[in-house]
Amino acid sequence: MPYLPLRALAPAPAARIADAWLERIADRLANPSGDVATDRALLCRDTLAELLHPEYAANFETALNDESLPLGTRLSLSTLDPRNVTLEPEYYGECDDARFQPVKPLLWLWYSFDRTPLAGQNVDLGVRLRRLLAERIFKRVGRNFKAFQHVEFSFGHNMEVGDDVVIHRHVLLDDRGGIRMGNGVSVSDYANIYSHTHSIVEQRDVTNALTVLEDGVRVTYHATVLAGVHVGEQGMVGAVAVATKDVRPYHVYVGIPAKSVRVKPNAPSPHTVLNTSGRGTTG
Ligand SMILES: CC(C)(COP(=O)(O)OP(=O)(O)OC[C@H]1O[C@@H](n2cnc3c(N)ncnc32)[C@H](O)[C@@H]1OP(=O)(O)O)[C@@H](O)C(=O)NCCC(=O)NCCS
Repeated sequence: MPYLPLRALAPAPAARIADAWLERIADRLANPSGDVATDRALLCRDTLAELLHPEYAANFETALNDESLPLGTRLSLSTLDPRNVTLEPEYYGECDDARFQPVKPLLWLWYSFDRTPLAGQNVDLGVRLRRLLAERIFKRVGRNFKAFQHVEFSFGHNMEVGDDVVIHRHVLLDDRGGIRMGNGVSVSDYANIYSHTHSIVEQRDVTNALTVLEDGVRVTYHATVLAGVHVGEQGMVGAVAVATKDVRPYHVYVGIPAKSVRVKPNAPSPHTVLNTSGRGTTG
């Protein structure tokens, strides 16, 4: 297979506008005035108002309370402020408001930005904004974090992420019980990583379990990793696979339930034993 490293692109002609916009958000995040959750809610509201309702951004409260405006317009304005929105994790029994409320506005900004016309496939701007937000949402995030659009979380604050991690489009990161990712992890388009599960008898009986993707793990297109699974270093979950049990380091697992079909040829000797399914041999 040809080796195709990513190309470096020249800055866009109006790159300074994007730089200034991101700097303004970074400044406000770094210098909250008063209560952090409230300040972030206002940051989210103001940022979205400029993008989505610029005609009302300067006089937001006046427009919100203006009964001559159509109700739908006022509703649309109201939902730019995360305090007027409920997110699913707020309904969870174990939701800790002291932890969730300060990150909620940043999640709402992330999700709402991804749905604006200027975001969509706008890779450079989107990656830089999400990196800024991840630093304040996650428990930990390393260097060069890269998330493409339409990634969603549960709490967000139970994410622990190493260096050089890439999350592709439409990925669900359910960090209800925690997700820990090592360095160099890649999660491909439409993959799902879970960290909670329900009793087969009683739906309200929920078990949260930390899910771990060690260094160099790749969870590929449309694959799913279930709660509490530990994917070992350099392990790979193949397209559309469902990892229901731990994935051995350097092994490639495919299918439902996922089984090892091969060992990567670069595996150190302790890992190059026969795979768990007995189908394949060492790389
Ligand atoms: C998992 C994957 C990497 C395996 O590639 P590979 O090591 O070249 O393996 P092979 O194609 O030789 O397949 C080995 C066996 O597993 C099967 N298999 C491969 N991928 C499969 C999948 N996703 N689901 C089910 N079976 C699969 C093959 O049919 C083959 O079965 P056989 O031995 O009965 O003929 C690849 O199939 C895959 O899913 N790639 C996803 C795309 C990708 O690389 N994404 C990375 C983005 S970061």
